[in-house]
Amino acid sequence: MFDLSDVVGHVRDGMLPAHIYNDSEVFAAERETVFARSWVFLAHESEIPQAGDYVVRRVMENSFIVSRANDGTVHAMFNMCLHRGMQVCRAEQGNASHFRCPYHGWSYRNDGRIVGLPFHREAYGGEAGFNKRGQRLLPAPAMDTVNGLIFVSLDPDAPPLREFLGDFAFYLDYYTRQSPSGVEVLGPQRWRIKANWKIGAENFAGDMYHTPQTHASVVEIGLFREPKAEKRKDGTTYWATGGGGTTYKLPPGTLEERLRYVGYPDEMIDRMKQVWSAEQLDLIGRDGFMVSAASIVPNLSLVHNWPRVADSDDVLPFVSLRQWQPISENETEVLSWFLVDKEAPEDFKALSYKAYLMCFGSSGMFEQDDVENWVSLTATAGGTMAQRLLLNGRMGLLPDGSTIVPPLGRDRWAGPGESRVGYGEYNQRHLMNRWADFIEAGPLRPAGVSVGAPG
Ligand code: FES
Ligand code: FE
Repeated sequence: MFDLSDVVGHVRDGMLPAHIYNDSEVFAAERETVFARSWVFLAHESEIPQAGDYVVRRVMENSFIVSRANDGTVHAMFNMCLHRGMQVCRAEQGNASHFRCPYHGWSYRNDGRIVGLPFHREAYGGEAGFNKRGQRLLPAPAMDTVNGLIFVSLDPDAPPLREFLGDFAFYLDYYTRQSPSGVEVLGPQRWRIKANWKIGAENFAGDMYHTPQTHASVVEIGLFREPKAEKRKDGTTYWATGGGGTTYKLPPGTLEERLRYVGYPDEMIDRMKQVWSAEQLDLIGRDGFMVSAASIVPNLSLVHNWPRVADSDDVLPFVSLRQWQPISENETEVLSWFLVDKEAPEDFKALSYKAYLMCFGSSGMFEQDDVENWVSLTATAGGTMAQRLLLNGRMGLLPDGSTIVPPLGRDRWAGPGESRVGYGEYNQRHLMNRWADFIEAGPLRPAGVSVGAPG
């Protein structure tokens, strides 16, 4: 129907073929390239604190059991029975020493090792006929963690996770490393939207431009301490290798004053100062920028916001993590977690959770505004006319390729990567350029097949 290399060419030029937001061929290519080669988030370690705890999560159709084995080690195992392929775990989460396949009853330890087959002797000739030793559920080809976030890659030759995240790890710490004992998560809430997965990832990466329009009512009711802040142009978009995001410019003050301004109590500020580097502290204290929404390639986003508490001048910060899990070219499952410093006071945790629900829970005010746009544009992108349209994703670029706003120098921006003050689709273009890199790299061809995995 169309040439993917043309699509890539347009994307690199900042022009987006409209059909990529609802096209089964593009979606099939994404499955074998973007999602087969990336590091994809599965779970947070605090979701499985005890031996035997597990959650079941997906990388597209690939179901994985993420479990903590009896020895405390974390495993991500392909949730497909070695016998005839049934999912051995059908629950979404729980605690189990073993998983028994519901089809014929093969059973596996919570580290994936096979331990029992019904009628082993009669049906298979016992150990001589079927040696259980060394056979286990297929492990994820690659697994690694950062700040308790568990990622897997379907590519056994993927670069190390830290390399994949690159300089974005600097920014990830603001959301997921706020004290020596780290964060804990609550959730996920899950819901489905009839929208393409890329739209949310691009929006959270740096779409400051939509806020005054799409979220006008949220701004007008004074959900934020400074309603006009949403219309100021001094937010920054930043891009580092693994992701990109936006910041807000805080009023003048010291590091402590600025963190208090967004609602953090002093004891939490003290812990932040223990774990963040001098450069990370400088971004807030010296430069006055506070991270807000961000996306990590391909489908993980983060939010850090500080809405006003009803009928008061107080604000409450919250941090949320969300994943755009593709179901099809025009449907996405959203998984949304609440994150909080494990050592935060209980009353702070409770109020911060409410602030998160109010803004970005499944019925949150921002959530409702955003999704209406994304569903509508996805539906239209599936039609014939959309195949003729190149969408304009060039905000901030002039025709000769130069940019309207120069990058901030190190004297004004303590973080790595590129950053610019003002409106511009810099982050979205970088995100889609990474998308194009994966499409161009072509499908991942798994080398060889496994009968169980060597134990
Ligand atoms: Fe699992 Fe047969 S498919 S025991
Ligand atoms: Fe929004």
